[in-house]
Amino acid sequence: MTDSNPQTAVAAKPDERPYSPGLEGVIAGETALSKVDGERGRLTYRGYRIGDLVEHGTYPAVANLLWTGEWDPNHRLPTAAIPGPVMTILRALPTATKPMDALRTAVSAWGATQDLPWPPTAENARALTSFSPSALAAFARLRQGLEPVEPDPTLDLVEGFLYQLKGEKPETGTARALDAYFIVGAEHGFNASTFTARVITSTRSDIASAVAGAIGTMKGPLHGGAPSEVVDQLAKVGSVEHAEQWLNEALDRGERLMGFGHRVYRAYDPRAAALRKVAEGMEHKPDWLALAIQVEDVALRILAERHPERALKTNVEYYAAPVLMGVGLTPDLFPATFSLARHAGWTAHVLEQSADNRLIRPDVRYVGPPERDLPS
Ligand code: ACO
Repeated sequence: MTDSNPQTAVAAKPDERPYSPGLEGVIAGETALSKVDGERGRLTYRGYRIGDLVEHGTYPAVANLLWTGEWDPNHRLPTAAIPGPVMTILRALPTATKPMDALRTAVSAWGATQDLPWPPTAENARALTSFSPSALAAFARLRQGLEPVEPDPTLDLVEGFLYQLKGEKPETGTARALDAYFIVGAEHGFNASTFTARVITSTRSDIASAVAGAIGTMKGPLHGGAPSEVVDQLAKVGSVEHAEQWLNEALDRGERLMGFGHRVYRAYDPRAAALRKVAEGMEHKPDWLALAIQVEDVALRILAERHPERALKTNVEYYAAPVLMGVGLTPDLFPATFSLARHAGWTAHVLEQSADNRLIRPDVRYVGPPERDLPS
């Protein structure tokens, strides 16, 4: 007897379509924003090399390049004022709130104060990217019992963020070092948070929802990274004489060396190379930077000996740590600061997705019980 119920007939057929856990290796879209060449260790934004952008650009110019495709090295982007209702919400947060939670809440509240259009515009991207540093700086002060500092429209975004955080204008070298960090953190292909932003946008939702979702994704330790753990690890290593033994013991315990390895890069992460240069040039570099440079060589040698089959090289987090510490940020602000930098990329992807939109709705392989009757 043939089955007359078409649903049962479909469910009975094994689903042999290809499936890649974690979507690894799956092409899930097209982008003209950045190219991550993991084999050769190269990263470009709209074709321009990351090292050149760090050397000759500023974060506002790079953000504008991502949003518009135009290279204007003089492009300016000051931080923006915080709408009253958002400030009320920031003041109401418990002081123990994690900075990532505060930032995600602030972006969501900012969206509630705006009339955000479909499709989103470059102006919306600019407005949100310039609002968030003010929000994070305000929260960082409020939790210490300090009053927020108003934006200074004469300062560019990164300088303005440091000013609103500390209440005094940063030295040029300090602002320049953090600006370099913002440039290397601005964009990186279809990472998990960017993909989240694109999925949200594909439903024709608004730019604030997309960025709030992206912050939630970046909050996870597998994505937001932990340059603060690099700092902890170096403190435990203590001295270069002790490095070989400590690193080997850590690996024998099954631990991972922080700041090494990457899902995509098989070569030295070009962002790490750019940030090492910045860290070495900083006036107020942490005193453990010299140790970090020595320990890196030992770690790379040990990882190569232990994993001849898989190239494990230095990643961006290793040298992000000294830069972020050197500009005076506390480690608990590192992930939220990374999110501020990634605003340019997230919002550029929102614009790119909305310009040629198709709802992102993949399929899933069903592995549950076959169709059956409810127990009587
Ligand atoms: N230290 C020691 N061994 C490592 C490391 C490391 N840092 N990274 C990978 N390996 C080893 C793994 O143990 C594994 O070996 P095994 O097959 O013998 O078990 C092998 O290399 C492959 O590891 P995977 O986890 O499959 O590699 P994946 O590409 O998924 O991992 C990741 C990438 C998560 C970054 C990993 O390299 C890691 O945990 N690094 C340390 C944490 C870190 O630095 N994170 C920041 C990443 S950059 C960023 O987020 C912006």
